[in-house]
Amino acid sequence: MAFVSAIFLLLIFSISPLESASQSTLTAYEVLQEYDFPVGILPNGVTGYKLNNSTGRFSVYLNGTCTFKVESYELQYEPTIKGVIDEDKLSRLEGIKVKVFLFWLSITEVTRDDEDLEFSVGIASPDFPVSNFDESPTCGCGFDCDNHVSSREKKLNTIVSS
Ligand SMILES: *[C@@H]1O[C@H](CO)[C@@H](O)[C@H](O)[C@H]1NC(C)=O
Ligand SMILES: *[C@@H]1O[C@H](CO)[C@@H](O)[C@H](O)[C@H]1NC(C)=O
Ligand SMILES: *[C@@H]1O[C@H](CO)[C@@H](O)[C@H](O)[C@H]1NC(C)=O
Repeated sequence: MAFVSAIFLLLIFSISPLESASQSTLTAYEVLQEYDFPVGILPNGVTGYKLNNSTGRFSVYLNGTCTFKVESYELQYEPTIKGVIDEDKLSRLEGIKVKVFLFWLSITEVTRDDEDLEFSVGIASPDFPVSNFDESPTCGCGFDCDNHVSSREKKLNTIVSS
């Protein structure tokens, strides 16, 4: 009996610091929406996050490196994504890369301008409609895991069209 309650206490004390660390019950996806971003800029499989809501500085944790394709582009999310979130603007991003031609380039900023999302990779800033990101992509297969061509895929522009 003492053993059981010891385990019970252990569980409580190991869970509560995690809960207070996130400072609220919102999921990372809901936090994105609070800042006017669609959930789909984060893949499925987020295990937790930290956010300082006065500075906007955040870390998001995935359960592993996440790679998937959007059209002919490969995206890679490292297990820890860091940056600064503000209304309609993600900046100083670390941990998100896109493969353009043969090169992996870091995505450093994402800005929402009305119904477009602009992804800055230093040399180029392609725009995509916000509606492309209504759902989160899944690691491995991205947005089209059910093997049929979605309306999203038809709407996606090529990344270096501009
Ligand atoms: C991460 O979580 C997702 C969704 O829960 C799961 O499908 C995937 O296999 C997990 N990946 C790893 C590396 O554990
Ligand atoms: C947020 O960051 C500021 C500046 O670094 C710091 O003073 C403050 O304590 C932080 N707040 C939380 C809740 O961590
Ligand atoms: C920051 O988080 C605290 C605790 O969750 C909350 O009370 C406060 O309203 C938040 N501040 C802002 C600016 O969202």
